[in-house]
Amino acid sequence: MQKVLVTGGTGYIGSHTVVELLNSGYDVDIVDNLSNSKIEVINAIEKITNKRPNFHKLDLLDKTSLDSLIDNNHYVFVLHFAGLKAVGESVEKPLLYYRTNLDSTINIIEAMLVYGVNNFVFSSSATVYGQQESPECIESMQTGSGITNPYGRTKYMIEEMLKDVHIAHPDFSATLLRYFNPIGNHPSGLIGEDPNGIPNNIMPVIMRVATGKIKELSIYGNDYDTPDGTCRRDYIHVVDLAKGHLAAMQHAKPGISVYNLGTGKPTSVLELLAAFETAAGRKMPHIFAPRRSGDVAEMWANPNLANQELNWHTDLTIADAMRDTLKFLESQR
Ligand code: UD1
Repeated sequence: MQKVLVTGGTGYIGSHTVVELLNSGYDVDIVDNLSNSKIEVINAIEKITNKRPNFHKLDLLDKTSLDSLIDNNHYVFVLHFAGLKAVGESVEKPLLYYRTNLDSTINIIEAMLVYGVNNFVFSSSATVYGQQESPECIESMQTGSGITNPYGRTKYMIEEMLKDVHIAHPDFSATLLRYFNPIGNHPSGLIGEDPNGIPNNIMPVIMRVATGKIKELSIYGNDYDTPDGTCRRDYIHVVDLAKGHLAAMQHAKPGISVYNLGTGKPTSVLELLAAFETAAGRKMPHIFAPRRSGDVAEMWANPNLANQELNWHTDLTIADAMRDTLKFLESQR
């Protein structure tokens, strides 16, 4: 059985990917420091898959423990999800973000090079596209200019770092997966997005409005040059996103490969809210608020490269994501 290491495997996207990995017959080791996830996720993963991933509570900044884990196992792949990801916090605490996201990645790559593990899959983000002339993002576009926050810049810097590592160590290969906007959760409702603290992203906010923890959704801007005036994004069901990682592993090739993981279809904030309201069967309180600084009017993926080279397509809809979100909310009660 092929063994893989998943950093951040109890987190939102990591846990969904672990489910798909276990269902496909991989032996999975998770490392996570549980700074933004809960240990109960391991039980939930076992309930869904009937398999229990190995769990190591470990901080990736603890180089000694990380080295000995990688030394003592024969991983065929390392999937790196762990990292800080709150955009607003990254503006307030840039050094925390640079220290955590960059050092942890350097520690893993150094250990991989020492112990001969050559296949890396990195959780990158559409944020690396920054400001572009066209809202449809293609992998060949120039990245890095117009990124509005330190979090986004850590993703960009890590992408560049991986390219340099490959030049110096040609046996080292990495797949950079640029996620668009993940939403939804496993249809069992047993795992999902449950961020600590005040959420930034739209779905966790809508979920808190639904449960009454937040009074109303503030829609940031309704005067954008878009069909209904609100921003448009490419919302992708997290189960489709998780499956993209398996496709990337199955089609991994030497060198650095980059893929957008998105649906290719834009959805506005008002459309997203309406989809949630339809699934929930009730209206959600919302107001129009000023634009949020750093937001672009619209962006979506051109997913052709992943469609063709990875033979990966999205199957699930926004309605599926909303149904699954409601199931997750019920299971949290
Ligand atoms: C954000 C980050 C991106 C990160 C991604 C992680 C920015 C500029 N980008 O993307 O770097 O990779 O999260 O998922 O922060 N919205 C509201 N009200 C809310 C929250 C959001 O109207 O309370 C709107 C936003 O204006 C935006 C859309 O919902 O149009 C999606 O926002 P969000 O979920 O934060 O994702 P992005 O900003 O696209």
